[in-house]
Amino acid sequence: MVMRMRSKGFERIGSHSHITGLGLKGKEAMPVGDGLVGQTEARKAAGIVVDMVKKGKFAGRAILLAGPPGTGKTAIAVGIAKELGRDVPFVSISGSEIYSSEMKKTEFLMQALRKAIGVRIHEMRKIYEGEVTKLDVQSVPHPYNPYQQIPKSATLALKTKDEEKEFRVDETFAQYLLQQNVEVGDVVQIDADSGRIVKLGKTEEAIKKEGIDLHTKEAVELPEGSIAKEKEFVYVLTLHELDVATSRRGSFFTIFFGGKEDITQETRQEVEEMVRKWVDDGKAEIIPGVLFIDEVHMLDIEAFAFLNRALESELAPIIILASNRGMARIRGTEIESPHGVPLDFIDRSLIITTRPYTKEEIRKILEIRMAEEKIKMEDDALEYLTEIGEKTSLRYAVQLMAPAHNIAGGNKKKKIGIEDIKEAEMLFADVKRSMKYLKEHEKIML
Ligand SMILES: Nc1ncnc2c1ncn2[C@@H]1O[C@H](COP(=O)(O)OP(=O)(O)OP(=O)(O)O)[C@@H](O)[C@H]1O
Ligand SMILES: [Mg+2]
Repeated sequence: MVMRMRSKGFERIGSHSHITGLGLKGKEAMPVGDGLVGQTEARKAAGIVVDMVKKGKFAGRAILLAGPPGTGKTAIAVGIAKELGRDVPFVSISGSEIYSSEMKKTEFLMQALRKAIGVRIHEMRKIYEGEVTKLDVQSVPHPYNPYQQIPKSATLALKTKDEEKEFRVDETFAQYLLQQNVEVGDVVQIDADSGRIVKLGKTEEAIKKEGIDLHTKEAVELPEGSIAKEKEFVYVLTLHELDVATSRRGSFFTIFFGGKEDITQETRQEVEEMVRKWVDDGKAEIIPGVLFIDEVHMLDIEAFAFLNRALESELAPIIILASNRGMARIRGTEIESPHGVPLDFIDRSLIITTRPYTKEEIRKILEIRMAEEKIKMEDDALEYLTEIGEKTSLRYAVQLMAPAHNIAGGNKKKKIGIEDIKEAEMLFADVKRSMKYLKEHEKIML
């Protein structure tokens, strides 16, 4: 059996999986493109930001995506990440996460910032190179969570114009293949010593076979010669990965599977000096990426002070904040500020607003999600779901699709009917309704 990376058990279909870019044509946003619908001004603005980032003209600045719930703020951030390309790191956190981890708030933020800065390294290495022609991942249930499958080993076949070979790889490497989302048709380079994999892209043939639009994906040539070769190997590590590797003094390969260790300030300085030297010697380039922070009103004044300082340092990523609040108290203070963000931080941010969708836009987005989730629906059901999206939120309407599909499937139907949507709506509440319910029953609940 060929285990595709996006198959169940490895990665759930995220609610933004339909987004492949910002849907731009030149500088303008197409009405529909790359899975995105409407919100053209915000997308155009986001495109300008991407352009500036790529040209290295945005470091140390921040963006604030502001708009009501379910208006596509996270969707646009995902679009930005896709537009930036695979080498540009994109780290996504939610404001509340800084409190839930075992780490100090500032340490958590520091690591997030350093994960968002890439270092592209050029080195002569012994590598294996070729197109993946076969990928079988053998998996077993997770020892502590039988509902989750984890890879045990894998068989991988590579081919060049002149050679084809099959490899059997162990658990660690199989996991790595999954993390990198390697698929049949990808042209990959694997570093013989570390096992590091770099995906170069898909061959033209593979793209055609999958029916992916050739305009959106760039094809790469099938490599020539033998699979094993000595070659300049170009790969990207983040500052955080270098921090971890340096504090362990282990091989880079352990970076991806290890537990947590304290990284000292000295280690970070050492890494920065090392990277600067590589850059001076022409062996590396720095790629500032993006740190996306959702629910930004959850950050407190200390976190903002820390981020403010971080933005001033020489090695800083672009920070994108998202907020669905208006005036809000800055956590840790009694001060009210727009979006709960201190004014000095707002001062250095460009603000992009998102607006509520029209009914037609909601319908179109739901259609795209249907295609993504391989769900079919009667016309009146889609109309009803669209109305739900209008009345409550787009996010709720998107989320109802899966249970409605399940209900319809239970009734042995191929298409979701209006009654299936109604049943799903009754069984699963949207946020407003659940809050209202809790209010009404507060006395009994407490
Ligand atoms: N313009 C769009 N085109 C296509 N899909 C979209 C668009 N806007 C939003 N979506 C999809 O609709 C759902 C809700 O949008 P999203 O989560 O991005 O909203 P949000 O503004 O981040 O909301 P919140 O304030 O609640 O975090 C997601 O599944 C998202 O991918
Ligand atoms: Mg969001």
